Amino acid sequence: MSYKPSQARYDKMLYRRCGKSGLQLPAISLGLWQNFGSVNDFDKGRQILLDAFDNGITYFDLANNYGPEPGSAETNFGKVMANEFKPYRDELIIASKAGYTMWDGPYGDWGSRKYLVASCDQSLKRMGLDYVDIFYSHRYDPNTPIEETMGALDYIVRSGRALYAAISNYPAEQAAKAIKILRELGTPCIAHQIKYSMIIHNIGDSLFRLHAKEGIGCVSFSPLAQGLLSDKYLNGIPEGSRASRNGSLDRDFVNENISRVHKLNKIAERRGQSLAQMAISWQLYDNRVTSVLTGASSKEQLENNLGALSNLTFTREELQEIDAIIK
Ligand SMILES: NC(=O)c1ccc[n+]([C@@H]2O[C@H](COP(=O)([O-])OP(=O)(O)OC[C@H]3O[C@@H](n4cnc5c(N)ncnc54)[C@H](OP(=O)(O)O)[C@@H]3O)[C@@H](O)[C@H]2O)c1
Repeated sequence: MSYKPSQARYDKMLYRRCGKSGLQLPAISLGLWQNFGSVNDFDKGRQILLDAFDNGITYFDLANNYGPEPGSAETNFGKVMANEFKPYRDELIIASKAGYTMWDGPYGDWGSRKYLVASCDQSLKRMGLDYVDIFYSHRYDPNTPIEETMGALDYIVRSGRALYAAISNYPAEQAAKAIKILRELGTPCIAHQIKYSMIIHNIGDSLFRLHAKEGIGCVSFSPLAQGLLSDKYLNGIPEGSRASRNGSLDRDFVNENISRVHKLNKIAERRGQSLAQMAISWQLYDNRVTSVLTGASSKEQLENNLGALSNLTFTREELQEIDAIIK
């Protein structure tokens, strides 16, 4: 039976303007860094993707190296694109990135024009797309002139491989330079993707000021600190969780922060939200984050996270209490 998304999908989501651009992004987006690779159950991943779109998530965030195996998240997304999403291509914002190690030798990493253009072509092929909506430089490369990296993004847009250029993980000073160069080239930077959550928020303020000054959007990644900001780790590290599975969420990091998580969970309970929901609502409350980029290993998790949208307000007392816990 052919796939038909829910008619009501756009009523279920809130959309926010990405900086001062014409592009609106869903307040909650879905990333495919983990759970969608060749090592994962394809049908489970497919169900999460369809469920996301059914709930008004239009932005799907990928990168050349997402998997594992690197590239396999794009290949799997390409299958869903071909089988289900194809008629809805113009309703989707599909992003890819290049910047981390992807292939052997000097041209498969960092920020050269050689790497970015070749990688973008590979990503398009894996996903079966003519273009991506957003192409990111995945990280700042201190050994490549920033003019070269931004020139590559400009070329990727002008050659029709992407509609918008963006940056990810750039420190404030380099982000300011990148934004200026892209503007001068006539391909404005649409967004900056940053790691931001109740647990990791030290870089937030200086970058938020820059984004506001330059009128660019902010996409925050790992809003649940990879699952730590949920009820998942309250009673230890469960089998099958990210912290038990791989090194991206360090066990020591979980243990160091768990007492804060318990305290935050109490506030979430009082608000009638799950902790995951409160962690997302807290980001969306102050408008500095355009889109919160979540991950999910099941449909249930995604739906729980989407429930954040039904309570995006906080009392002054709640905010003060949260600040005292997370500072
Ligand atoms: N630009 C960059 O450098 C960069 C870096 C990292 C991520 N990103 C992007 O950001 C996206 C999201 O990152 P992330 O996966 O770290 O985000 P996250 O939302 O902080 O963590 C997602 C993980 O948290 C757990 N989880 C999610 N919802 C839950 C719930 N309701 N209850 C309990 N546990 C829940 C799941 O872990 P389990 O697997 O343990 O169930 C899930 O895989 C990535 O896919 C990627 O697109 C970008």
